[in-house]
Formats: sequence, C-alpha cells, structure tokens
Amino acid sequence: MSAERQGVRVGVIGAGLMGREVASAFGRWFALLDCPVIPELRAVCDVNAAALDWFRQVPTVKHFDTDHRALLARADIDVVYVAVPHDLHEALYLDVLRSGKDLFAEKPFGIDLAAAVRIRDEARRLGRFVRVSSEFPFLPGARRAFKMASAAQLGRILEVRSAFLHSSDLDPSKPINWKRRSAQCGEAGVMNDLGLHVAHLPLRLGWKPSLVHAHLQKVYTTRPDGKGGMAPCDTWDNAVLHTTVTLGGEPVPMTLEMKRMAPTETNTWIFEALGTESGFRYSTKEPKTFWTYRRGKEQTWEKTDLGFDTAFRTITGSIFEPGFPDILMQMWAAFLAERQGVLGERFGCATPDEAVAHHELWAAALESHRLKSVVALGG
Ligand SMILES: NC(=O)c1ccc[n+]([C@@H]2O[C@H](COP(=O)([O-])OP(=O)(O)OC[C@H]3O[C@@H](n4cnc5c(N)ncnc54)[C@H](O)[C@@H]3O)[C@@H](O)[C@H]2O)c1
Repeated sequence: MSAERQGVRVGVIGAGLMGREVASAFGRWFALLDCPVIPELRAVCDVNAAALDWFRQVPTVKHFDTDHRALLARADIDVVYVAVPHDLHEALYLDVLRSGKDLFAEKPFGIDLAAAVRIRDEARRLGRFVRVSSEFPFLPGARRAFKMASAAQLGRILEVRSAFLHSSDLDPSKPINWKRRSAQCGEAGVMNDLGLHVAHLPLRLGWKPSLVHAHLQKVYTTRPDGKGGMAPCDTWDNAVLHTTVTLGGEPVPMTLEMKRMAPTETNTWIFEALGTESGFRYSTKEPKTFWTYRRGKEQTWEKTDLGFDTAFRTITGSIFEPGFPDILMQMWAAFLAERQGVLGERFGCATPDEAVAHHELWAAALESHRLKSVVALGG
C-alpha cells in the first residue's frame, strides 16, 4: 500500500442488503492496487437495532446508532452512504448534506422528480460532493460498450436497447415488501427501483430521449403480507419505454426496459446499440462475452471473452470473471477518487443531474401511460 493513499471515514445509514454489501467491499479493499483512497467503515445506523448486529464482526466499526441524527453528529465521519427505502431518501439525504458531510446516495435519489431536484439543489447550494449508486457501468462489458459508443465507431446509429430484468415477482407467493408499495417505492414503481441501471449509460453518452411512449403493467395486485393475510401490491411491475433520441441530428429509437416479471431473468442487465458500421451487444446473462458486428460484404457477430478489465487495477488475475461485489468495489473506488479530485479519465459515478434526468424520464412515462400518448420531454 502506498504511503500517499488517503483515508476516508464512512458512515452507513440503512444496514440492509446494500449496507452489508458496502461493508464487504471495504473489507477487501487491499485487492485494489491503484486506488488512491482507502475507506474505513466507522459507523452504522439502522432503526432496526437487530440489523446492526451483523456489523459487530467488522473490526473498524466503532459506532452503532439507531437514530441517523446521532451518526451525523459524529465528528469522525467524512462521507455517509444512505441505503433506505425511497420515501426516506429526501429527508435523510438533506440531513446528511446539512450535517456538513458528503453523500453517496442510493438510487433513485428521492421518491420522485420534485424530491430529486430539491436534493440536487441543496447539495449544490451547500457545495457537498454527491454521487448516486449505479454499479453496472463498471463491468468490463459495459466499459467496452461505453468506449465503442463514445468513440463514434458505430456509424449512424440505428437502434439502442437498455434493459434490466428480474423474474422473482412471477411467484405470486413472494411476500410483499416496501419495494412493492407505491407509498414507499414511489409512483414510478419498477422504474424507481431498476431505472437508474437502465438510464445511466445512455444519459452519460448524451442519449437523452426527446419523446417517450410508455407501456406500464401491474400484474399481481395483492401479495402475502407475511402474517397469514394478503396486502395490496400497487407498484408497476414492468415498464417498457419506447423513446426517441436525437443522434447526429437524426431521430433514433431507444427502448428502455425495466421488468420485475421477465421469465427466466435473474438480475440481467443488457445494453445494445446497432449502427451502420458496427454494433455491440452485452448482457450479464453471458457475463464475460462481448458481442460485436462490423459491416462487411457479409455481416457476422463476433464474440470476445472479456477478462477482469476494470478501471482500478486489482490483484485479481486478468482472465478471471468479475461479479457484483467486484463492480461495487470499483464504483466506490471511483466515488472516493472523484471526491479526492484524482479520478482522471476513469468513468465517474452517476451525478445528481443524471439522477434528476432519469426521474424526468419516469415522470414522462407516467404521463404517457395516463394520456395513452407520446410525451415530449423538455430541454
Ligand atoms: N445499487 C444497487 O444495485 C441497489 C440494489 C438494491 C437496492 N438498492 C437501493 O438501496 C436502497 C436500500 O435498499 P435495500 O435493498 O438495501 O433495502 P433493505 O430493505 O434491505 O434495507 C433498508 C434498511 O433501511 C433501514 N431503515 C429504514 N428506515 C431507516 C431510518 N430512518 N434510519 C436508518 N435506517 C433505516 C431498514 O431497517 C433496513 O434495514 C434503496 O434506495 C434501493 O433502491 C440499490
């Protein structure tokens, strides 16, 4: 480890699924060879005291709080990661910003567009460093796709597809949870839950739709409540947005798909773009395979096995396969390096402006569904 690497003290609010993933990423930070910053998980907070117990095995954690204001009052915390239900994002994010600490926020960055704008504007007013969690662009396949798309290698772009697909909700006996209740997940439902994963790379490429036509579906309207009864399940399960994006002055169809009911799909993230000169297809269903085509007399798809090609170098063998914990660690390395001003040319995490832009899409999709019509996006 180089002597110049700087330490950053991190607090986590929300000790659920994602809170534990972050602790795990920090716990093997020594796998990174050239990240100039070292995070130390110092404090954890959850309203459910039992959720804190898992963190007692993490040697660096010194503070265990059940009120986020107690964590925010601590002087030995520089950055706070908040992973709580969407209806709490705005209040907790604003509390973090006003406590003088920087924020790594979870998607969707507020329950709706108005909340996202308020959080972004307060962060800007206070001058805090804020980014939003979205880890798929850190996959080697996504990196390769982003590089091809931004190097204008595709020729005139014919079509784009970005998708994130789950299937466990096909089981009607799956119990209800907060992500399936509009009051906590947000009116945008599955778009709030899966949408940043789908919109992040198109937005970073400047592929922001000007027109949206949305197909939204609710399938099971009740689910077991876990106490022997049934509870209303009122969120959108599947959302398919047929959008138009202007590329090189030409309208191009771009499809954005977010589904909780996509048979056979388990966390499948897909990004594809086809152009007149070449094109790519990448799906986590075939996690190491990157498909490309190049126009010739005959057109064929070629597939390349990608290795462990990450932005921050690691001790991991270059032919090994990366997975979710690896890209989460890469995303955190990017967040901490950018905060320190040493990200360089590497891909940065989703910005508050990108989070606001993705909410604009979901607001337009809800409007499109209501009007049964195509909706134009401003700007
Ligand atoms: N980036 C990703 O890949 C990814 C994946 C899953 C979830 N998420 C996002 O992470 C966030 C959390 O999701 P999750 O799956 O970890 O949820 P979760 O339900 O597993 O955990 C949420 C935790 O927050 C706690 N909590 C609730 N209110 C609180 C409060 N006022 N103060 C402190 N703790 C409180 C709950 O007790 C729970 O332990 C959401 O925004 C979700 O969209 C991101």
